[in-house]
Amino acid sequence: MCGIVGYIGARNATPIILGGLKKLEYRGYDSAGVAVIHGNQIEVRREAGKLSQLVDLIGKSPIDGAPGIGHTRWATHGAPSAKNAHPHLGNSGKMVVVHNGIVENFLELKAELDGEGITFNSDTDTETIVHLAECQRAGGTSFEEAARRTFKRIHGANVVVLISTDEPDKIIAARIGNAGGVVIGLGEGENFIASDIPAILEHTRRVIFLESRQMAVVTKDSVELTTLDGQKITPEIHSIAYDAVSAEKGEYRHFMQKEIHEQVRALTDTVAGRVDFQEGRIRLPELKLTSELAKRIQRIYITACGTAAYAGMVGKYLIEKIARIPVEVVIASEFRYSDPIVDENTVVMAISQSGETADTLAAMEEGRKKGAIIWSIVNAIGSQAMRVSDGTISMQTGPEIGVASTKAFTAPLVDQYMLAILLADLRGTLDEKTRKELVADLRLIPDVAGRTLDTESQVEKIAYELKDISGCLYLGRGINMPIAYEGALKLKEISYVHAEGYPAGEMKHGPIALIDEEMPVICLALQDPWHEKMISQIQQAKARGGTVIAVATEGDQLVADMADHVLWIPKIPWMLSPIISVFPLQMLAYHIAAIRGLDVDQPRNLAKSVTVE
Ligand code: AGP
Repeated sequence: MCGIVGYIGARNATPIILGGLKKLEYRGYDSAGVAVIHGNQIEVRREAGKLSQLVDLIGKSPIDGAPGIGHTRWATHGAPSAKNAHPHLGNSGKMVVVHNGIVENFLELKAELDGEGITFNSDTDTETIVHLAECQRAGGTSFEEAARRTFKRIHGANVVVLISTDEPDKIIAARIGNAGGVVIGLGEGENFIASDIPAILEHTRRVIFLESRQMAVVTKDSVELTTLDGQKITPEIHSIAYDAVSAEKGEYRHFMQKEIHEQVRALTDTVAGRVDFQEGRIRLPELKLTSELAKRIQRIYITACGTAAYAGMVGKYLIEKIARIPVEVVIASEFRYSDPIVDENTVVMAISQSGETADTLAAMEEGRKKGAIIWSIVNAIGSQAMRVSDGTISMQTGPEIGVASTKAFTAPLVDQYMLAILLADLRGTLDEKTRKELVADLRLIPDVAGRTLDTESQVEKIAYELKDISGCLYLGRGINMPIAYEGALKLKEISYVHAEGYPAGEMKHGPIALIDEEMPVICLALQDPWHEKMISQIQQAKARGGTVIAVATEGDQLVADMADHVLWIPKIPWMLSPIISVFPLQMLAYHIAAIRGLDVDQPRNLAKSVTVE
């Protein structure tokens, strides 16, 4: 959700923090701030709006010093304003905090602090943390001990970073619960703290990840890790091989557009090294799947949020069809409240681009508590979801910066297709011929993906026709039904147009009443087992005056004759079709938003990593 950067060392912290925040702006972008220790003073600059506004403010009113902490915010408590932007100072002016998460017992803590006559200067829950820490400091308690006592009183999933003029040689950071990540970057005579790796990658590739309920005392030369209860922990140092360059926009107008086009490479990389085309076999070593385990599995729960959940819905079709294992997809925010029927023969598989979505992590934790086997399909290297899993399939997409997920949607579709084949193979339920055919079909993806992306200029023309719509229906059936959901989500999140994804067969039970001349209907009418049904759906929409935009398989004259516009995709086996049929919908949403002049990569009210419940 929010992005945090901290620096301690001999350099001026401000440019390092601003540079890091720029890389984290996808996490939150409604206000930002920086605080540094200069001499014996804490200097703070905060501004509402995007990071560029803070940069302007600091340009006019510079601050320098070290250590320093900075923050880019996604508001939970209090409007996005300079007053509510982090960092927040304590009343003594000697301590300052940045925070990601929600202090769930905020009201109770605030009442206690009010009772002690503490003045609050913002509407945030964050401010309670710094006041509480200052109160703990009162009797001469060390900064570290005061911070520890404070962290132990905070409920919920939170990341907190503090500095103090009393002990300016330290930054103290804590991860309380499964809030977004904390990574400590190790330099020479300097150290860094950040919510995510890209923020510190230009300075170091040696990092330590903070686990839940751990805190770190970071000086320029050392990192001391303990649990919140004070037990010492030996830090594990990871070396990150990460392509920072791919986190630049290059020739594209927006990251989303770039990431749509990166799908050819991402999908090629997803398959590369995992498929033996000769033998017709899949290898997913990180999943640690043995045939004994594969045979034991009786049920799979796929749990995820938003786009990742729609990827899971496609996965359900694939795993049930190919491996014949029952699969349920449960939205992660519901999973732990639905008392799921889970035992040691159940897999709980999370899908997450960021690997730090609070609801998804909570669902994984619930699965763990109930004794399930925990798997994940994750993009972010070293993320919490990856680390708490028994087995992982890492997405091979590279960093995804656009808030609207694209390549991190299609990669897990291929991952789940491969997983389904592997499961069936290990369970001995797939005949050799079928297995080899299914595996061989994976070869088709890069070419079909590339040809579909080449239709962008035609999609853009249709986007011009649709640029002023105020609502849109997306219909699909079978394996392409989740693509209707995903197409609608893409449009709403970046164009702010109300869009509804619906199983086409359900139209007659209500939503068909919405169709008139004003309502475009996007129909996924591919040559798959549901083709005929979708044709009749197009007819029904046309009969009510709706404008039909079909996504169809090249050469399908029937669809061409009926629909007002067609977004073509090349022929591809139906089980792989969702990987490609979503491309035109991603491009359509992108171009409608771009034509409307909207902030495609950072749409209002959203953030890339949702680390609060
Ligand atoms: C996708 O376009 C959305 N921004 C959102 O639905 C996202 O997929 C969801 O929040 C899950 O995120 P995750 O993959 O990082 O867990």
